[in-house]
Amino acid sequence: MPRSLSFALTALAVVLLAALAVLPLTPARAGDDVIKIGVAGPLTGGQAKMGNDVLHGVQLAVKEWNAKGGVLGKKIEVISRDDEAQEKQATPCARELVNEGAVGVIGHFNSGCTIPASEVYYENMVPMITPSATNPKVTDRAYENVFRVCGRDDQQGGVAARFTVETLKAKKVAILHDKTAYGQGLADEFKKGIINALGEAAVVYYAGFSKDEVDFRAILTATKEKAPDMWFFGGIYNQAGPMVKQARQIGLTAPFMSGDGVIDQEFLKTADKDAEGSYLTFGPDPERLPGAKAFLAAYHADYGDHGPYSIYAYDAANILLTAITNAKSADGKKVCDALHAIEYEGAIGKTQFDKKGDIVGSYYVLWIVKDGKFVLYENK
Ligand code: ALA
Repeated sequence: MPRSLSFALTALAVVLLAALAVLPLTPARAGDDVIKIGVAGPLTGGQAKMGNDVLHGVQLAVKEWNAKGGVLGKKIEVISRDDEAQEKQATPCARELVNEGAVGVIGHFNSGCTIPASEVYYENMVPMITPSATNPKVTDRAYENVFRVCGRDDQQGGVAARFTVETLKAKKVAILHDKTAYGQGLADEFKKGIINALGEAAVVYYAGFSKDEVDFRAILTATKEKAPDMWFFGGIYNQAGPMVKQARQIGLTAPFMSGDGVIDQEFLKTADKDAEGSYLTFGPDPERLPGAKAFLAAYHADYGDHGPYSIYAYDAANILLTAITNAKSADGKKVCDALHAIEYEGAIGKTQFDKKGDIVGSYYVLWIVKDGKFVLYENK
């Protein structure tokens, strides 16, 4: 072997060995050939049903994008975190998603988790779209990376109060809440609307309790003693179900009203016949939206019945992936700019965001439980 060749081979061997020695320190990053989308919400515990609805909506959107080649030529991977609907879990979950390289996040589910988590996403300029967090503060800080595809509780509480005054013609109302950003926030917006229309004296009872409480009988008995014409609860279905049951047991027969956190099949299952006649505020019925047909068929095939927020999560994921496509980059700042400019025709309708990241033109309607089902309330 000529000396020059032998020298070259030795040099090559040295370079290869050096590369091997370095390899364990610089492993091939899975993130190099995939784009990661984060999802965060309660995936276990009392609110797991709604959290998993959100996860499934995102998974369906991602499956469809991957079937068409992914985004920016890369496969999309969903990474999820379970914040258990606990405010304290929200920030660690957000940090983990950021550290794992999520280029955008769908979530969190609860306002109480979304607000602290959004600080982490803001610091790292990771775009986040919540499908469900309705507290005004989520977007009122006008963080350029924070968006939502649902409405706001200042709208929702106002719609509930107007309905209470104008349609139910209630004169005395009782208001209960779960002391969370969402539950108390919505209860307070409802209260504001009632006081504006009827004066302070119309709110005959107002009380909060822990979101983990399971026995409501003392508070319901106090509510009943005030003889309200209706009672309102700001909170989530996992408490509303047993609460309505216990209310009827202690003889509180006045109509019950709540919001988007309660309009779930789990509420119907738990409250059973006692759910009948309950009023709920929420968005429009997907079954009546032409743009939702394909979504509903695909979702039902993969996951069974859709939950209230499945479709919002599906649209949110599609909107994020469209923004990445439009930005021609997964860079957080560029994707946020693309989100602010987006006009997206989705399953739930048209999405455009205002400066604060709220969806333009969202609205609330009244639903009622009739024959064991949620149906749109028709004023006859
Ligand atoms: N709308 C509910 C919340 O904001 C789910 O927490």
